[in-house]
Amino acid sequence: MSCIVLVLVMAIFSGFNGTEASRAFFVFGDSLVDNGNNNFLATTARADAPPYGIDFPTRRPTGRFSNGLNIPDFISQELGADPTLPYLSPELDGQNLLVGANFASAGIGILNDTGIQFVNIIRIFRQLDYFEQYQQRVNALIGAEKTKQLVNGALVLITCGGNDFVNNYYLVPNSARSRQYALPVYVNYLIFEYAKILRRLYDLGARRVLVTGTGPLGCVPAELALRSRNGECSEELQRAASLFNPQLVDLIQQLNNQLGSDVFIAANTQLMHNDFITDPQAYGFVTSKVACCGQGPYNGIGLCTVASNLCPNRDAYAFWDPFHPSEKANKLIVQQIMTGSTKYMNPMNLSTILALDSRN
Ligand SMILES: *[C@@H]1O[C@H](CO)[C@@H](O)[C@H](O)[C@H]1NC(C)=O
Ligand SMILES: *[C@@H]1O[C@H](CO)[C@@H](O)[C@H](O)[C@H]1NC(C)=O
Repeated sequence: MSCIVLVLVMAIFSGFNGTEASRAFFVFGDSLVDNGNNNFLATTARADAPPYGIDFPTRRPTGRFSNGLNIPDFISQELGADPTLPYLSPELDGQNLLVGANFASAGIGILNDTGIQFVNIIRIFRQLDYFEQYQQRVNALIGAEKTKQLVNGALVLITCGGNDFVNNYYLVPNSARSRQYALPVYVNYLIFEYAKILRRLYDLGARRVLVTGTGPLGCVPAELALRSRNGECSEELQRAASLFNPQLVDLIQQLNNQLGSDVFIAANTQLMHNDFITDPQAYGFVTSKVACCGQGPYNGIGLCTVASNLCPNRDAYAFWDPFHPSEKANKLIVQQIMTGSTKYMNPMNLSTILALDSRN
């Protein structure tokens, strides 16, 4: 009897949630979270050829820089939602708009001059302009009041900063930025510019924003191949990540204090990744140094293509290609985002957020 009552109550409550089956999800950033926008652009930063997508449900490349699912996909699963469509996809229309949208574009950074070698990518300011445009489109569909509710009630993910090091400051020896700024000054500048981006997201209506730091930049197979003698992480790039990530957490705390609300949530992706790197076996990986797909030392040279070495069991590798985590690693990262302690998720993990927000 009480079981039946509970089921009825749950049915009524889920009915009250009304039009949206689950909250909308918006994604901004770089290749770690791009669901395929770059497929629609004339750029070399793309993942639209095999073996990318080899473990995706369709077994086909989608533009994701993964053998299968990526971080936003696993977050969508946690929300009980369909994966976010790339903003440039023609399929993102009508009711599909209500699921949210993915504005991310491989190669971008905080700065406009990051990734210039990729030419035609959607830089972060453009991603935010598209978010505004998206809201106008949803407005036309469901009206201003409901659009505002959808946006305010959404979960947002933003991942950028890594490319400002690997595809800018450290792209070539004596890069323009490295001649202009000593590393600590450059990091301050990035944080200063990132603050503007996060404030703009807030002004556009975002109220729950997961902000990931960079991974351990010096330990990715590409940097091991380029800079390491005996498999140790590149000190210089590790120093960059160690300067950037704590300042990002400080920035987030400051912004939340100013807003009087925990709008921004810092995800310590450096620490999450470091766990795999220090003890890959504990997470079921045979290695965290060698990429599954690539060539040269650590499979870290050049791009992952049909001609590359390809490991048979992708789940045994922390890195899929020279820069990007495998599907398995992405899944573990999202588990930490969901349930991690405050060491990983500050001020709180995603399951706490979802529980809090469902009460509103
Ligand atoms: C990047 O470009 C946008 C749009 O042109 C501009 O508003 C912004 O200030 C630029 N950012 C930097 C760091 O120069
Ligand atoms: C999330 O974070 C809270 C507070 O740090 C912690 O108590 C909880 O165990 C974490 N995991 C889940 C699933 O809530």
